[in-house]
Amino acid sequence: MKILVTGGAGFIGSNFILYWLSRYTNDKIVNLDKLTYAGNLENLQSVESNKNYVFIKEDICNSKAVKSIIKDYQIDTVVHFAAETHVDRSIDDPTPFIKTNVEGTYVLLDAALKNNVHRFHHISTDEVFGSLELGTEEKFNESSNYSPRSPYSASKAASDHLVRAFGITYGLPITISNCSNNYGPYQFPEKLIPLTVTNLLEGKKVPVYGDGLYVRDWLYVEDHCRAVDLILNKGRIGETYFIGGLTEDINNIEIVKKILKIMDMGEDKIKYVKDRPGHDRRYAIDWSKINKELGWKPEHDFEEYLKLTVDWYKRNKNWWKKIKND
Ligand SMILES: NC(=O)c1ccc[n+]([C@@H]2O[C@H](COP(=O)([O-])OP(=O)(O)OC[C@H]3O[C@@H](n4cnc5c(N)ncnc54)[C@H](O)[C@@H]3O)[C@@H](O)[C@H]2O)c1
Repeated sequence: MKILVTGGAGFIGSNFILYWLSRYTNDKIVNLDKLTYAGNLENLQSVESNKNYVFIKEDICNSKAVKSIIKDYQIDTVVHFAAETHVDRSIDDPTPFIKTNVEGTYVLLDAALKNNVHRFHHISTDEVFGSLELGTEEKFNESSNYSPRSPYSASKAASDHLVRAFGITYGLPITISNCSNNYGPYQFPEKLIPLTVTNLLEGKKVPVYGDGLYVRDWLYVEDHCRAVDLILNKGRIGETYFIGGLTEDINNIEIVKKILKIMDMGEDKIKYVKDRPGHDRRYAIDWSKINKELGWKPEHDFEEYLKLTVDWYKRNKNWWKKIKND
């Protein structure tokens, strides 16, 4: 395959590139990334000199550049990670979210269509389906209604709709995956798990929104990469696949307490802060479709890999110290 990965210098995109190049040694990857605050080429140092890997600093909204990259590199597959991703930032200023997540996705779809790519895989989130009630058994699945409640999730929902529309209207061979919260190495330290670990390592308190009773589903990032691998290789064109990790609910305060325990620190380190407006209470994912059709299931145990993730941030202080307090 000749794959265009967008947003490959970010958290999941860089993990995906490392995953792919180590397994598919004949495939070529072009990584197109604007290098916003969230993009970091240090994540990819180990593949910099790989002859099957090229990095291009570019904005996905630049239609002319995107078209010529797809053409010049004879791209057959697009895996679209690039996005503005932090809900809090989307509340402060939705503008870049609309620009990158909606307009940028349209630019890529148009360029992919005009260059007859064989597959456009869109990476999306469970957040587009809104919020579930606490204490219920309800889960999101592929037939759930869209109900985004933050500018971030609304912009991702819009991008999902555009991708599906290009599949139906123009016959672009698309697939979509909606995944729950990822954790692992190279995650920007503004997201819950790396923020908690790095604050504790800096001797700071850990901010927890509202009552902390917000439930998210968590998945180790390599499990996400393997799901995308299966979708690219065996997934059905036009289909959406849900990807999730946990079978039981864990709320944010429990996550923070688990990290405190791993790091041998007390609950006095928790600082409750004013809640985020429109904060979704609970997400949960039914991943039975991808399990039945493609044989995927999460393979990394949450407790074990949370511990390994904490260790990674402990061992890689240089990585996060440079980017944390910009
Ligand atoms: N992190 C999660 O838990 C999670 C869960 C489900 C889905 N997703 C989705 O996965 C994708 C990747 O998420 P992430 O956490 O790795 O994000 P991230 O914020 O770590 O990285 C985003 C990357 O996109 C790049 N980018 C942003 N705007 C760009 C533009 N206009 N042109 C080119 N590049 C641009 C950034 O430089 C960065 O490298 C996103 O689409 C996100 O919605 C994330």
